[in-house]
Amino acid sequence: MKSDPDKCLYYDIDPARIPRHVAIIMDGNGRWAKQRFKNRVTGHEKGSETVRAIVEISRQLGIQVLTLYAFSTENWGRPGSEVSALMSLLKKFIKSERLSLHEKGIRLGIIGQKHRLPRDVQNELDITMDYTSGNRDMLLNLALSYGGREEITRAVRSIARDVMEGKILWDDISEELISAHLYTANQPEPDMIIRTSGEMRLSNFLLWQAGYAEIFFTKTLWPDFTEQEFASMVKEYQDRDRRFGKVVCSSNDGSPQ
Ligand code: FPP
Repeated sequence: MKSDPDKCLYYDIDPARIPRHVAIIMDGNGRWAKQRFKNRVTGHEKGSETVRAIVEISRQLGIQVLTLYAFSTENWGRPGSEVSALMSLLKKFIKSERLSLHEKGIRLGIIGQKHRLPRDVQNELDITMDYTSGNRDMLLNLALSYGGREEITRAVRSIARDVMEGKILWDDISEELISAHLYTANQPEPDMIIRTSGEMRLSNFLLWQAGYAEIFFTKTLWPDFTEQEFASMVKEYQDRDRRFGKVVCSSNDGSPQ
């Protein structure tokens, strides 16, 4: 997908340096609801509207992969009523957005333990993933029953099995091989990780892939997060100096900058 030049111009973003992969920890739905004396589910419902808006602006900016942390392995520990409400909301969202995702050229993917989700949610996800599988403008990854440690453990088990069965040698184990056994195999690593609501931690999100991601924290609660704030973060990303542990040289004398 090429970025929309009008959108980039509008937000003062350089269309040639769009982050390839943006991942978001959508936090603060519960607090948003509490501030309004509403139940937590109302916060999640409002949060779904933000999801729609951020998916759309990401596609317009030409981001290739957008990963949203929608339900963590730890979230199973929430009250049953909240888990059920989140699952219903997810099902509703997937069903209602199916056509629109397809029309926008967006492919739906999942990272996480799909098998732990309720059967009806799995069905809706399967239908939408199948329906959108040929789309190439953007990949929307929903992280569902996702945990970075679970993902790495699963990869280690799978690699150990391959070694035991003689499919690979232990010497073949490399960073690339580990990456290839993660849910995000064949996807670019996140360039940006955003967390809303003022919390400043990764909470088991993309632990391996986050190695060189630029991290952005905002106090804005997820239901209040806007396209404008998102775009301003993309702009800030473009202004940051990504050195990947190296030094930048302006002349050929090798002096660090
Ligand atoms: C964290 O806020 C948010 C979640 C655990 C769920 C995220 C879900 C949505 C944004 C809506 C549904 C998702 C999709 C993809 C349609 P929190 O509940 O922990 O907030 P708090 O920290 O303020 O309590």
